[in-house]
Amino acid sequence: MQQKSQPILQIENQTKRFGNVLANENISMQVCGGEIHCLLGENGAGKSTLAECLYGFYRPDSGKYTFKGKEFKPRSPRDAIDAGIGMVHQHFVLSPPMTVIENIVVGTESDGIWLDLKSASEKVAALCSDYDLDLELDTIVGQLPVGRQQWVEILKALYVGVDLLILDEPTASLTPQEVEKLFEILQKMKTKGLSVILITHKLHEVMEISDRVTVLRKARLVGTVNTIDVTRETLVNMMVGRTVSFQVAKKIKTPGRAILELRDLHVLKDNGLDGVKDFSLSICENEIVGLAGVAGNGQSELFDAIVGVRQLQNGQILLSGEDISNDSPDMVIKKGIASIPPDRMTQGLLMGFPIKENLILGRHRVAPFKKGIELKYRVIEQFAEQAIEHYEVVATSGEQIAKTLSGGNLQKVILARELSHDPRFVVASSPTRGLDVGAMEYVHKRLVELRDSGIGILLISEDLDEVFNVSDRIAVIYNGEAMGILNREEATREGVGLLMAGFRGGGG
Ligand SMILES: Nc1ncnc2c1ncn2[C@@H]1O[C@H](COP(=O)(O)OP(=O)(O)OP(=O)(O)O)[C@@H](O)[C@H]1O
Ligand SMILES: [Mg+2]
Repeated sequence: MQQKSQPILQIENQTKRFGNVLANENISMQVCGGEIHCLLGENGAGKSTLAECLYGFYRPDSGKYTFKGKEFKPRSPRDAIDAGIGMVHQHFVLSPPMTVIENIVVGTESDGIWLDLKSASEKVAALCSDYDLDLELDTIVGQLPVGRQQWVEILKALYVGVDLLILDEPTASLTPQEVEKLFEILQKMKTKGLSVILITHKLHEVMEISDRVTVLRKARLVGTVNTIDVTRETLVNMMVGRTVSFQVAKKIKTPGRAILELRDLHVLKDNGLDGVKDFSLSICENEIVGLAGVAGNGQSELFDAIVGVRQLQNGQILLSGEDISNDSPDMVIKKGIASIPPDRMTQGLLMGFPIKENLILGRHRVAPFKKGIELKYRVIEQFAEQAIEHYEVVATSGEQIAKTLSGGNLQKVILARELSHDPRFVVASSPTRGLDVGAMEYVHKRLVELRDSGIGILLISEDLDEVFNVSDRIAVIYNGEAMGILNREEATREGVGLLMAGFRGGGG
């Protein structure tokens, strides 16, 4: 075992409450110089809270930090950055209309000092070449793919010279290639002696990249282990206290009649260019069709078209033979289509409202939640209690405001709402994004249960593990076009990977 360097950071007995919610209880951990340290735990375990306290965004109730040998008491992110701690949030805080270089330098120079863009550009260009990042500094950030926007976030931290970088679920919306590149960057940081705290739910990533892992459970510390001393199973056990099956048990089902038919769909992107082109696919009763594809290949436009928020230029959508093309979103819900949107922050939830209202959103005008003009408060409350219990949403009650839930628990609220109202058809976009392994197991089981009960499901996902785990057939979308459809048994990962990269004739 290699000799570890001295701790650069010590957290001693951190406690943090939000009202009557105990988010961190007496947590102590250490991060060494030049190490990649993963923070692992179920949804709501307190990972983001720990990170946000360290970054000066929240003030812990008690506890002590020692950073680079000195006591450290951040009162704001500015303090953290000045001390040498940077953070990359899952939802970036960049300014989309500004260029890469502007995003990197704005706010990093001290007040009153004239911004020398030329020397800043030289410094950033040197960092790019150091870290092997192929990035034009005068590109508008909003035009960059997600993976590259993340580079900008990281460069911003490197530019000010952080010693410790915290990343909170940085891989949740990256493609596998982007994840690989991110990990190269983190490895390079490590060889330069910088430290990284990485929060992720993906255990293969933990095993691949980390030196040590700290596990939290229900606000408390379970322990810190060396990655080489543990297996995925050990980590799961530390995290949830039981084993988790990564393979969903599935009986063979003969698909019934076609329930949703997409015929020659043509849908435009926001910028007027083609999003989905001549796309045809049918999904039957008792069937889960996985739609694999690299993010940005028309999946979100296809999703929007199905749920009625984006106009079809051409083509038809049939639900059990009935034409529902260009029906309103309300109508689509009424007809029995449930949907898990790709972006929960902007599409699925009202963040300022209580969980219980979010749980009936879209269905608040219909039975059993409304009778005549009267809202059925008792029914709504009971429904919320059940949903919170079944999906193990970590919340004080149905009254808790959505924005105070942890990331994974927000996703559970959407899942509970959409999968509980006896849908006829479900279109689910990355339904398990941000979920812990236990919750992911539950959702996969629930999707298979729905399929067994006769429902058709379109599962849009970039995660091939997920697609292969639950699908009966696998379709691939590339550049807005359907690249082919395969039975699960005849599909291989390599083949699907080729189709995802636009090579026809891949697949089996
Ligand atoms: N601003 C807040 N107000 C009230 N409660 C909060 C607030 N922020 C977090 N919490 C609560 O603190 C607990 C820990 O949340 P945290 O976001 O740290 O979890 P997490 O481990 O990051 O989970 P996930 O994996 O789902 O992101 C949760 O019960 C959450 O609802
Ligand atoms: Mg979190």
